[in-house]
Amino acid sequence: MIERISAKPEMHSAIAEARHEGKTIGLVPTMGALHEGHLSLVHAACARTDFVVVSIFVNPTQFAPGEDFELYPRDIAADLDLLGADGVAVVFTPSVEGMYGTDAQVSVEPGPLASRWEGEIRPGHFSGAATVVAKLFNIVHPDLAFFGEKDYQQLRIVQQMNRDLDLGVGVIGCPIVRDTDGLALSSRNAYLSADQRAAALALPEALEAAAQALAWGERDARALEAAMRDAVARVSGGAVTLDYAAVVDPGTLEPLVRVDAPARALIAGRVGKTRLIDNCALHPKL
Ligand code: PAJ
Repeated sequence: MIERISAKPEMHSAIAEARHEGKTIGLVPTMGALHEGHLSLVHAACARTDFVVVSIFVNPTQFAPGEDFELYPRDIAADLDLLGADGVAVVFTPSVEGMYGTDAQVSVEPGPLASRWEGEIRPGHFSGAATVVAKLFNIVHPDLAFFGEKDYQQLRIVQQMNRDLDLGVGVIGCPIVRDTDGLALSSRNAYLSADQRAAALALPEALEAAAQALAWGERDARALEAAMRDAVARVSGGAVTLDYAAVVDPGTLEPLVRVDAPARALIAGRVGKTRLIDNCALHPKL
């Protein structure tokens, strides 16, 4: 039976009890509006740990002023239904005040990994996300915590934070789940009209174009980025405004000059008012 807990002390007791029973603990942090991408993390957690906690918390501190915090899709009843079938032990749904109290002052400063890409466009976003993840790690004390490669920069920051602050959690990255047409699943896809959704396919198409150009022997990172930009313009007919299309080192997220080892292609853009991000691994033939 799935148990819903909203208060930290109850969460501590549930974890203490599970530990007492010798269970390993898995954590899947989410902001709700769950889809198959989130559920893939839940399945991985259920396969690898005995007592799985899914947190659902739309974290205000990771939204910059003017972003979609108020609008962000929330449907807790549908989320609980989806999780009910899945072997999850606890759904943790704290309130904002329950999570932060009224006078929180200390936050995580995520450092250079957060300076580019999403960090540049969304100031404060990764500090907010890293801080809430650190808090969730401290509330749940999971053996393993599961994050999607969909938010690749976030995953790298969480891995780095976990190491640098000795949080002691096994951070597991899980592959991106896509719709049949290639669009990465995202809670924000709900904002898209049919036309916008068609235009949004420019993002995965651009990643595919970079991977294809690499497979044909192009190693120059600027040329691969140009292939991405061309694909976006061609597929979206101008309906996607690119924020960045970059070929980066998969560890540091710094831009590469040439792709002579595994790399990552990152892309982000706006369709109407909706921001979408995507990425893929790039493997040069060695
Ligand atoms: P949210 O956007 O709800 O995503 C929760 C987790 O689901 C993240 O680890 C994200 O990478 C993963 N995810 C989302 N779409 C996915 C997809 N298509 N395939 C695979 N995984 C996918 O990311 C957050 O929430 C928040 O920043 C959070 C970590 C919960 C902190 O507030």
